[in-house]
Parts: sequence; C-alpha cells; structure tokens
Amino acid sequence: MKEKINQLLEEVKSFVAENADQVDQFRIRFMARKGLIGELFDQFKEVPGAERREMGLLLNELKVSTQEKLDHFRNLFEQSGKAAGETIDLTLPAGYREPGTRHPLSIVRSEMIRIFSRLGFTVNDGPEIEDDWHNFTALNFPSEHPARDMQDTFFIAQSPDIALRTHTSSVQVRVMETTKPPIRALFPGRVYRNEAISARAHCFFHQIEGLYIDHDVSFADLKQTLLYFAREMFSADTQIRLRPSYFPFTEPSAEMDISCNLCGGKGCGFCKYTGWVEILGCGMVDPNVLENCSIDSKEYTGFAFGIGIERITNLRFQVKDLRMFSENDLRFLRQFEGAF
Ligand code: PHE
Repeated sequence: MKEKINQLLEEVKSFVAENADQVDQFRIRFMARKGLIGELFDQFKEVPGAERREMGLLLNELKVSTQEKLDHFRNLFEQSGKAAGETIDLTLPAGYREPGTRHPLSIVRSEMIRIFSRLGFTVNDGPEIEDDWHNFTALNFPSEHPARDMQDTFFIAQSPDIALRTHTSSVQVRVMETTKPPIRALFPGRVYRNEAISARAHCFFHQIEGLYIDHDVSFADLKQTLLYFAREMFSADTQIRLRPSYFPFTEPSAEMDISCNLCGGKGCGFCKYTGWVEILGCGMVDPNVLENCSIDSKEYTGFAFGIGIERITNLRFQVKDLRMFSENDLRFLRQFEGAF
C-alpha cells in the first residue's frame, strides 16, 4: 500500500493538464467517490496499528497534493476560459442579489443629523480609543476625582493613559483644540462603558453630542435648539422639560425629558406612569473646559448636549431589548426594511 501511495504521489506531482477536460478526468480518477484515493482510504481501515500513523500521514499528503493540483488547474482554466469568453453567457438573466437593509441605529442617526444640520451643525469624527486628556482631564474630570466613577470604562493595564472613550465629548475637545470659534458641530459615534450587559444597558452604545460656541451663546439658545430637535424628531406637540443635573464639563447642567410619545404624556408603562422620558444631558460648557482647549472663556460661551441614539431609536421603534441592536439577527433587522 505504501508503494502504491508513493507511486500515485509521483503521478500527482508531475501531472499537467492542457485543458479543462483533462482536469475533470484527473478529478474523477483520483477524487471521485470510487476513485483511487477513496479506494486507499477503504484499505486503510485494515492497516495494522503499528503502521497506521505513517500510512495515515502519507495518505493525507496524497489527498492534499491532489486537491492542490486540482484547484490550481481549475483556477487556471476558469480564468483563461473567462478571458476567452467561453464560460460567460451574457444572455442569462443576472443573479438576484437581495438588497440589505439599513440598521435602525443608522436610520435614526441620519435623521438626527439631518435635523441639526438644518440649524447649521456640521459633523466631526474622532477615535474610539482615546487618551485620558481628551476623554477626562480636559473635560474637567481631574484624575482621582469621584466624577470619574460616573463613566467607568475599559483601560489597558500597562498603559492606563489609553482607554475606550466613554462619550463623544472627547471629540468636542479635539475640535475645540484645533478650531477657532464659532463652532457648531455634531459628534456621532460609538462609546464604551464598563456595565453589565442586560436589556437596558450594554458595554457599548452610540451617542450624538453637539457643541455650539460663539459670542453670547446662552441657555435660551440651548433650550430652543433642543425643543426644535424634539419636535422635529417626534411630533410638533412634543413638550420638553429640563431638570438640573451634574456633569463635570458643563455648568449649569441639565437633563432633558420629553413628554412620553407613546401615551402623549398621560402616563403608561413605558414612561413609568410619569408622562415623561429622559432623552439627553446638556449644559453650558464650563469655562475651565474652554480654557483647557485654548478658547478664551471671557470672549466666548457655548452649550453642549449628548443624546443616546439607542434611546431615541427605542422611542421611535419600541425596541424592548438593547441587545437586539448588536446581535445581527436578520429577523430583527429586516423589520426596518421600509423605515426611513
Ligand atoms: N457626555 C455626557 C455623557 O455621555 C453627555 C453630555 C454631553 C452632557 C454634553 C452634557 C453636555 O453622559
């Protein structure tokens, strides 16, 4: 049997095909169900234990070499066949390719950008792997400050200066450092937090933050901008409510609720019978943050806001479990086929 295998190995190695027919004959002779290699595998079952290992390796080598030869010549003739126009029949109807669908988060992100762009906001991008300065320190979270606990993330043990960004405010810093006001920009992107994964929380999610810096920007501008957004995004009769809050990088800070768009503010399970749902954080940019980014805080003021895209998408499409956004289940994704 060993001799036989060696002899076939030689034959395979020296085999050259001149056309596709010869390749096919080669395939049938060696690889067909009742071909030479199949026969040898049948005989292999009777090989005594002591020889099995050696014989197995040899037989495998034969199989692999044969397959390689086959692939090589198949490719060769397929390509030259195509080049000569032999195997392509241009009269055949084209194969149908099912169009993909846009992800619900992409649909909502585009819509949010469209709304703010009508107010003159442009879009900026930044890295998801950030350094401490851009994600925390420049934003008024000094190291060791307890405010850092609000946004725990993933660090690299050997170089703790590098982390996955916890918010896209890091891109605000990057833009402020390099742009002379006025600045009116949006920062969409993926952010990370060290959270246990559940239906309501995930270790990554998506945000759009916004920043407006100019002479005399006031809290009234912030409120009007967000009211416009809420009414465009949901409905013309949507109400907003600002509640005082805390973020290290804004002063004063607020969280904004909208009247529940499922029950119209009457109270339902979704809004926990309060009539309101929280959708974003916002505030006037802290003068320290402006100064950290070399913007004169005596000359300029600004507002910023951060909106969770998943949150808005949930309100829009009533997705009950956050995990569905990242599981790639087509039965879920296909439901957004017609949504624009
Ligand atoms: N960066 C904040 C967060 O992710 C949101 C925010 C942005 C709040 C801008 C105020 C102003 O929690």
